[in-house]
Order: sequence, then C-alpha cells, then structure tokens
Amino acid sequence: MQTIHFTHNEAAARAVAERYVTPPLAYVHSYGCQQNVSDGEHLKGVLLDIGYGLCNSPEDADLILFNTCAVREHAEQRVFGNVGALKRLKEQKPELIIGLCGCMVQQPRILDKLRASYPFVDLAFGTNAIDQLPELLLEKWRSGGKRLLKAPVARENIVEEIPVHRESPFRGWLPIMYGCDNFCTYCIVPYVRGHERSRSPQDVLDEFRGLVASGCKEITLLGQNVNSYGKGLAEPIDFAGLLELLCAEPGDYHIRFMTSHPKDASKRLIDVIAAQPKICRHLHLPVQSGSDRILAQMNRHYTVGQYLDLIDYARQKIPGVTFSSDIIVGFPGETEEDFAATLALIQKVRYAQLFTFIYSKRSGTRAAELPDPTPRSEKTARMTRLLKAQDEIAFGIAASLVGGVYPALIEGRGRQEGTLSARLDNNFLVEFAPGTAQVGQMVQLAITGARGTMLQGRLADG
Ligand code: 5AD
Ligand code: SF4
Repeated sequence: MQTIHFTHNEAAARAVAERYVTPPLAYVHSYGCQQNVSDGEHLKGVLLDIGYGLCNSPEDADLILFNTCAVREHAEQRVFGNVGALKRLKEQKPELIIGLCGCMVQQPRILDKLRASYPFVDLAFGTNAIDQLPELLLEKWRSGGKRLLKAPVARENIVEEIPVHRESPFRGWLPIMYGCDNFCTYCIVPYVRGHERSRSPQDVLDEFRGLVASGCKEITLLGQNVNSYGKGLAEPIDFAGLLELLCAEPGDYHIRFMTSHPKDASKRLIDVIAAQPKICRHLHLPVQSGSDRILAQMNRHYTVGQYLDLIDYARQKIPGVTFSSDIIVGFPGETEEDFAATLALIQKVRYAQLFTFIYSKRSGTRAAELPDPTPRSEKTARMTRLLKAQDEIAFGIAASLVGGVYPALIEGRGRQEGTLSARLDNNFLVEFAPGTAQVGQMVQLAITGARGTMLQGRLADG
C-alpha cells in the first residue's frame, strides 16, 4: 500500500485570498461516530490551511460542510432535514457554498437524490477525498460555480499529514486504520468506507508523539475494528504490538481505543492492557446480540460462549475493568427467545454502558434481503425492556464505586451549577466542586455518591 503526503494547495490559498476581502468562514458539522468527528477535524485543518476561518453557526458561514453518517436511516433523515433548512440561507446569500461529505455521499442513490431534489447543494465528496477539498473548491470557482457532486473515489492508499484542527487540547482522536472488511450483514460501513487499511506504525507513532508533546492527556485510537490493525502492512505488527509500542513513550497521558470486534480481541491484547497502566480499564466490545442464531445471521463469527470467555478472561486479568457494548434490537427475524437471550447476556456481563439501536434496514446490505416480520411496536417494546434492565445494572455498578478514590481527567462543566465533570479510567463520569482544579487536568477523586450513573465526588488529597 502506498502512502501519499498531503501538500499545501497554494493555488487554492491564492484563490481564497483573491475572492474574499477578509478570511471567509467555514461551518463544519460532523454527524455519527468518532471517526467522523476526527475526519471533521481534518476538514477544518484543510480549510484553515488555505485561508478559511471557522465559525459556529451556519448563518455566519461562507462555506457549510455537513460531514454525514450512513449507519442508520435516522441519521440520513436528519442530514436531509438539516440540508433542507439551508435553502433559505442560500437564497439570502447566493455565493454561499454548501457541501456534503462523509459516508452518506459514498452511496450513488444519495448523489442521485441530491442532483434531483437539492439544487442548492454545490459540492459532494466522499470519505476518501478530504485532502482534495481545496482542489474541489478551486474547480468550482474556476468553472464559474458549477455543481460538483463527485462520484465516490475508491482509494487504496492513505494520505498522511493532512492538516488537523483539534477540538480539544487535552483529548485527541488518532485514527490508526480506515475501512472495514467484516461485512456484518446489517452494516453499510464496509460499502461506504471501503477496505481495511492500516497506517504504518511509524506514522501512528509520530502523530502520537506530537499529541503527547502538545499536552494531550487522553489519546483515543480509532478504527472500525482496531483489533485487525496491521493486516496488509509490510512490517509484522498487530494491535497489541502497536499498544506496546505507544505505551513505551514517556509522558503524562492515557490511551483509549475503539472499536474492538470480539472475534479479533485476543488474549494477548487483554494481557497487554493488564500490563500497561497507561491503557484505560475499559473495553468497548460490541456484542450486537445475545443469540447465537442471530449472531450467525449477522456474520459476526463468534458465539455467546466465546464472547463470555473473553469477558471472563479480561475480568480475571484486569481488576476493575468495565465493559460497554453496542446492541441491535429487532434484527430481521429476531424472536422473543432471541431477545430474551440478549437480556440474559447483559445480566451476565453487567455492562457499565450500552449503546442500543433498533435495527435499521440499509439497502445494499445482506440483511436488507431478509424477511422482517416483527412489527415496529414490538421492537420498540423490546428496546424499552432492554433499557430498563440496563439502567438497573449500570446504577448498581455506579453505586459500587462509591467510597473509592480514582484518577480522573476533567472534561468540562458538570450538570449541576458550579461543578466540573471528570471521566474515570473506567469511563464513568463524576461531578465535583472544582476548587482550583481546571478542565484538562488529571485529579484524584473520592467518590461520595451516585445519582443514576452520574457519580458525585470530591477532590482527594494527594
Ligand atoms: N441498524 C442498527 N444499528 C446498526 N449499527 C450498525 N448498522 C446498523 C443498522 N443497520 C450499530 C451497530 C454498530 C454501531 C456503530 O451501530 O451496533 O456497532
Ligand atoms: Fe460494521 Fe461490522 Fe465493520 Fe463494525 S465490524 S463497521 S459493525 S461491518
């Protein structure tokens, strides 16, 4: 696989300077997963590099970019709703440029819809074309304002050194791989983000060092399936090896990562986490369903038994580890019995946090062809039962943390007036009276109580 290096587009920078008296403003909004948030930070970086400024509201913008998500239908509907609302802005300000990028735009049917029904959308480009945005803007200006709705580009290579504008000085997203080869039958991601491609360990390490040197306290490694990191690279390395490499870096930071596919989460990975204090004691291991029959139909390549073995092993090796998961309710053909198996599984694992989704049919995926006789009302009822069971579990885990003292990273304001909110290693949030402590700092917190899953705490001495 070839690596391309980003180059500053001088012609685009000149065009921006010539067209605008003061720097034009860009509003970039990302929907969906953390990978998309990270892509959004790169879109902003690329725009700053050619002379744009950034703004926080579409009304102030000269360029509006929606970085979209395609994983569920609801996400697509939201994007179309929000794009529709921009028509009025475009009427008031005809020189406004409106663009769509990200996963939705990788689907030809979306481009057709934009062409037919959204004449005020000027640009569309896919997830692999972030570095090409300056060229696209240039092409638009040179053509006298032509609409450029680009067909998705399949790219086998990785573009390194794309400028990035990070939202937070103390929490950094670090993509280590792109794409997914798993083809879970419900999921659109492999179709829109393409093949798995891993960044070279050296490129990951260089960016990691840069983050640590800039004072970043929490670095989250990103990938659709971080556990298959390294496949296809010239040097023999896997995800556990990458973690070891990164943890050898000196500095005051800790590491999180997502997402892990349970089929590829090895015991060696658990051993490495257990041995490395710099890696957080929290594993996001999406199980999707507690029924072996449904797991097979989802093409997940593990059974409930294998999944539970992994959880047991992690519990043994990593004291205090917490788990979170994604669950899909109402996969085509899910019976009451299958759903009951999911409820039983969550009682066994006792997740600290669940991300729950009602199955959403994605055209082009294999599950979209399956009969789906369960009425929506039944799926919603199952979801309500799942959430109720999960609340009780998570409240119980939160309560069990009361009395302990833990390190925590202060993330921002708490919900209650005058408090700050900090995240523990195990991913629980704590509200506390800050004293002189500040956002972005690591502190020791004594946990004094729990309201639901929100912990209450106070600064501990030392
Ligand atoms: N319907 C519902 N949920 C889905 N996910 C992925 N595809 C779908 C779909 N078609 C969920 C999975 C995945 C998470 C990111 O989104 O649980 O882990
Ligand atoms: Fe989708 Fe499965 Fe790949 Fe996750 S592992 S992105 S659920 S296909």
